[in-house]
Amino acid sequence: MNAEELRSKYIEFFKSKGHTQIQGKSLLPDNDPTVLFTTAGMHPLVPYLLGEEHPAGKRLVDYQKCIRTGDIDEVGDPSHLTLFEMLGNWSLGDYFKEGAIEMSFEFLTSPRWLGIPLEKIGVTVFEGEDGIPRDEESAAIWKRLGIPENRISYRPRADNWWGPAGSTGPCGPDSEMYIDMGKEPCGPNCEPGCSCGKWLEIWNDVFMQYNKNTAGVYEPLARKCVDTGMGIERTIVILSGKKSVYETEIFAPIIKAVEEASNYSYGADTEKDRSVRIISDHTRSAVFILGDPKGISPSNVGAGYVLRRLIRRAVRHGRKLLCDGENLARTGRFLLPIAEIIVDMMKGPYPELEGNRAFIMEELGKEEAKFLETLQKGEREFEKLLPSLLKDPRKLISGRLAFKLYDTYGFPIELTDELAGENGMTVNSAEFDEAFRKHQELSRAGGGQGFKGGLVDQGEMAVKYHTATHLLHKALRMVLGDHVAQKGSNITAERMRFDFSHGAPMTAEELAKVESIVNEQIRKDLPVSMEIMNLEEAKNSGAVALFGEKYEEKVKVYTMGDSRTGVFSKEVCGGPHVEHTGVLGKFTIQKEQSSSAGVRRIRAVLG
Ligand code: ALA
Repeated sequence: MNAEELRSKYIEFFKSKGHTQIQGKSLLPDNDPTVLFTTAGMHPLVPYLLGEEHPAGKRLVDYQKCIRTGDIDEVGDPSHLTLFEMLGNWSLGDYFKEGAIEMSFEFLTSPRWLGIPLEKIGVTVFEGEDGIPRDEESAAIWKRLGIPENRISYRPRADNWWGPAGSTGPCGPDSEMYIDMGKEPCGPNCEPGCSCGKWLEIWNDVFMQYNKNTAGVYEPLARKCVDTGMGIERTIVILSGKKSVYETEIFAPIIKAVEEASNYSYGADTEKDRSVRIISDHTRSAVFILGDPKGISPSNVGAGYVLRRLIRRAVRHGRKLLCDGENLARTGRFLLPIAEIIVDMMKGPYPELEGNRAFIMEELGKEEAKFLETLQKGEREFEKLLPSLLKDPRKLISGRLAFKLYDTYGFPIELTDELAGENGMTVNSAEFDEAFRKHQELSRAGGGQGFKGGLVDQGEMAVKYHTATHLLHKALRMVLGDHVAQKGSNITAERMRFDFSHGAPMTAEELAKVESIVNEQIRKDLPVSMEIMNLEEAKNSGAVALFGEKYEEKVKVYTMGDSRTGVFSKEVCGGPHVEHTGVLGKFTIQKEQSSSAGVRRIRAVLG
């Protein structure tokens, strides 16, 4: 079965169950300052999930293009994508767990529809947490339908809770459907939901029962809803029996176009194959963003910045592929033939791509040319410096110089590394990091996005501690209340100190709770993302800003967690931060004491 057939079967099946097909929406969400892109099929339906009547009725079905960039750095491996299509069916106060699960089961297993063998299917259900009960009801329904008990796994909130899509909105426990990929279990606890690669999630039934409000409180919804999402790309991997989405018909023609544009044969070299996948994924996303009815151009803020990053990363990987000095990417048109193929392939379900073909090509071409100009300036500068650089007996390029190339010419450090390598040299990356850190400190000071107390040391550990302060800040507000505000912090590579407003010493119980919340967020390995917004937008999105601090018009907002994991914290801050909280290690509070009147101080370590 190909993607086209899967789309139509899904729609046909749910139409036969009384659903009305609605149009998927723009990739750029309306009226939601908390996210840059539409991240799920439910996203455009938020008002209806919250209680508004939908003109098409109570049972809806559609397919929706979605973008999630939280994992952008993982793209290149065999499974991560920035753009994917989601099939979804909704009940707006109509059927609930039973109806949703029965229909999912029938669509997955019936030979009339997908015909996936029962013994390949495993499911997860919510194990209960924070006063929300264990979902025995869903488990019983799955069991009744024939899923054996040992393939029904109860999982915590971190795994089996979905939403909100931004920082507020509808959410609830979910039940996820997995396919056994036939690998050996990774251990005795390898159940559906395990991330070792044995189980691939293809569909999620969310039981929308709560609205997370701006105060972070989960209010029960007056009308219970169902929101489901089936990933087309993943399901096609299963249905086609392939190992990776890049081997399926969804990507094969794109990969062929990359091969043609680069003269490189996919499969010849692991590193280059990774570049091929990055180019394919990123160009596909860029085409969809540019081709959206609300089409935007590459820029330095918001969604336009993500678009710019996608295009530039694709171009950079294009250069890596180019054979023996035949530098096709320099022509500034490397991505265009690839983009043309993507429009041809996807214009059926997404006619807007055809309508906007000229705009897509023009913008891609312009951005590619602009980036290449940047690269060429940097390369010329590098070549001028080369004779004197080569005199260095250690063959070491100073980090200061690498930083200057970055700062003055926008020359990415990876390219300086590459050029250095081609000339038998290496870059002093510790020194580059140091220069980068200083620069950030300066811009933070200048930008008024200072971190009170300052980052004494911004090595790797200090960055981890910095991220930990955000988790601690939020955990303190959860345990002690919203009066808690950060009053200062001081970080070294060995420990953090964090001062905050609170009128009384903390009890041992409160301390234990805070510690455990922080560790839970570390365990969940929340992705950390940054968006640049207007201060007003940032505040409206629920980001915490330090009171009394002076900010620029445009600020950086760091979010820990995303639509999949749930957003845990959102703060206006200059950064830098780690990319995933999982790297922080164990968080331990060593001491809690008074700092000044009404201000407490916590000393904590990571290790
Ligand atoms: N909104 C749910 C998801 O994206 C269905 O997984």
